[in-house]
Amino acid sequence: MAPPWIAPSILSADFARLGAEVDAVLAAGADLVHFDVMDNHYVPNLTIGPLVCEALRKHGIKAPIDVHLMVQPVDRIVPDFARAGATYISFHPEASAHVDRTISLIREHGCRPGLVFNPATPLDWLDYTLDKLDLVLLMSVNPGFGGQQFLPGVLPKIAAVRRRISALGREVRVEVDGGIKADNIAAVARAGADTFVAGSAIFGSGNYPATIRTMRAAISAAQAAAGTTAI
Ligand code: DX5
Ligand code: ZN
Repeated sequence: MAPPWIAPSILSADFARLGAEVDAVLAAGADLVHFDVMDNHYVPNLTIGPLVCEALRKHGIKAPIDVHLMVQPVDRIVPDFARAGATYISFHPEASAHVDRTISLIREHGCRPGLVFNPATPLDWLDYTLDKLDLVLLMSVNPGFGGQQFLPGVLPKIAAVRRRISALGREVRVEVDGGIKADNIAAVARAGADTFVAGSAIFGSGNYPATIRTMRAAISAAQAAAGTTAI
């Protein structure tokens, strides 16, 4: 399995000091920057777009930026995010009229494609897409807001995705997003995730390094117990 990555969701950061907040979580040990894009159409909230992604790059952020698109339609905005410096671009299949085309579009623009599954979205969408993806993002809340309660129904879904990726024999990241905290991250790791989004649990904590350290220790312990330590 790929080494575990912790991805703070900047949705819970102090937007008035965004550059400094991202610098702080990266200095605290975060691996990638989770960037939630909401359009008040696909989800009932409105957040940030490519200009803010570009501003983070201009500020000097070198870490991978993990753009989670909660927008409909999807394709129009993909080239803008590629130009703005996105590394991963993930989208919800229900929001795209042509899922295969959107995956190709992301790849053609030099980014890594990911497909996102809401709590009630079946994994069937992976049938003809998994071999073209770099990331599968499983929602453990309904998308739209930070600070919601983790839905444990995602755990068997994580395990099912992990089995499919093992059978595929190619590395595809399994990311989980929503309600992850230091006290449930071990269960998420045990189920087979390797990439952990946490917004309120990190930015709402007084001490970013201590919170990320605690999360990383819980992941390592869970992986060691399951015999799936990163290689
Ligand atoms: C929800 C977003 C999440 C959210 C996670 O729609 O996709 O990334 O910010 O926030 P927490 O960790 O607070 O649930
Ligand atoms: Zn997200």
